[in-house]
Amino acid sequence: MSGAGDTTPEHLTQRQRDKEARKEMDHSSNAHDATGTAAGKCPVDHSSPAPREVVPSTALPVVDMPRLKQVLSIWARPEPYLKKCRATYGSRFRVTIIPGVPLYVISAPDDVKQMFTAPRDVLHTGSSNTPIEKWTGQNGLAWLDEEEHTARRRGVMPSFRGDALKRVEQEVVRLAEQEVASWPRDRAVSVHPFAHRYTTKVILEVLFGEHRPSCEDEMFREVMKMLEFNSRPATMRPFHLLPAWKMKLTRMLRPNGVNEFLTRRDRVHRMVEAAIEERERSGESGDDLLGVMLGITDADGSTPSRTEMRDEIMTQFLAGTETTASAICWALEFLTRHPRVVERLREEIEDGTGDAYLTAVVHEVLRLGPPIQQIVPREVVKPIEIGGVRYQPGDRLWASAYLLNRDEHNYPQPDEFRPERFLGVKPASHTWIPFGGGHTRCLGDRIALVELKATLTEILTTCDVERADAEPESAHSRTVVNIPRNGARMVFRPRRKVKAGAATA
Ligand code: HEM
Repeated sequence: MSGAGDTTPEHLTQRQRDKEARKEMDHSSNAHDATGTAAGKCPVDHSSPAPREVVPSTALPVVDMPRLKQVLSIWARPEPYLKKCRATYGSRFRVTIIPGVPLYVISAPDDVKQMFTAPRDVLHTGSSNTPIEKWTGQNGLAWLDEEEHTARRRGVMPSFRGDALKRVEQEVVRLAEQEVASWPRDRAVSVHPFAHRYTTKVILEVLFGEHRPSCEDEMFREVMKMLEFNSRPATMRPFHLLPAWKMKLTRMLRPNGVNEFLTRRDRVHRMVEAAIEERERSGESGDDLLGVMLGITDADGSTPSRTEMRDEIMTQFLAGTETTASAICWALEFLTRHPRVVERLREEIEDGTGDAYLTAVVHEVLRLGPPIQQIVPREVVKPIEIGGVRYQPGDRLWASAYLLNRDEHNYPQPDEFRPERFLGVKPASHTWIPFGGGHTRCLGDRIALVELKATLTEILTTCDVERADAEPESAHSRTVVNIPRNGARMVFRPRRKVKAGAATA
């Protein structure tokens, strides 16, 4: 175990390497300095790169904390835990969270880049999704790797792009108007359940488009109740893998919520299966996810099974709803502490001249409050060298969006909410990774951005928003996402009409 005061040669080498990497980054950003002078003065001879020493992953520092404490820290107080680890161990360290699994947190941009661009047969994601298997089953995109993943992703892609995206966008705007209008006014509420309701309605559009199943309303209600389980600590336990007798005992301990969750999930499964059957019988095609899946024929002539379609739909109920609801909550958490940003946003919305500032705000929200702080771990299946470290099969790489985003080398004054940093600037793909990257980059990224923009526009146009609590809300886990601890407690007041040109609160 390597603690803060560890002085093993490997540890020193690691720290030195981090330092060198930072110098190199500083150097390259200076080289693009607006004055154009730094490039001419470069003291480094790039024509002969120094030979690099490669260390095995086992030489990386190990977080010196009991496993249970680490699990609780990542669940209840992820931010101070990750920050402390980074300050103590640098940009690569091993955490002990899953027994027997060497899990390496990485946060140097070049490491993340190499991880995202590694060949598909070297790093896998499928096996790392055990924590969400209880919802998604094992036959959705999230569980697949290599050719199977490529084929399925290509197959379902049309429901996330092109005309399907345009259709979803229209519905996103309509739903934002309808849902925000229904949120309570003039009393303190946690925004999370309302935002979650909205994002789940959007997902129904992605899944079924205009071909809504006859059980739609009941399915919506059950899915919402099923997902309530995500706020319980038991959600992180892979209890579905327990032997039958232990599972029976776990279900009998009613306060843990497991029995209720499994009962509801089985109900949702039956409804989704009925929806698939109903659609098959109707013979109606469409660019919604179910319509697209029903039209897939693989090279060998096979079509996705009903279980595969069901698991794909279940995956969206989790992946597409919790994440965007979290982002909406973080957006309000940050905006209500920055009235100047709200003022500028309103000016842009009222001018109707474009959405450059709104886009920058959304990018900054996802930087400062990434709904998924740690991107799905990559399992090493063939040895790979990343950033001078040799990782072996069985190792897992856990890229930290949170640490990348809060690194002053990537973002000056990283803890401040400053949308201006993204004004006219496209976020870089290896320092801004709320949607992950590479072969498994989020499929719903464009839909999520539209949802965020539509809700913020609607809220700011129709309401004045006040914080219910003065203190900032810290991050709290909700399965694989995190949300503001109290779900972003706000008071929505009907917006006072203001004279043109007057400042708004
Ligand atoms: C702000 C909102 C969202 C965030 C922050 C987010 C984040 C992520 C992340 C980090 C991943 C894993 C990427 C990787 O492994 O590199 C992912 C995957 C995925 N997301 Fe999202 N997501 C959001 C919204 C959505 C929405 C709205 C949908 C559906 C409409 C969606 C569907 C998916 C799917 C299907 C995958 C799996 C992709 C694959 O394995 O190929 N997400 N998302």
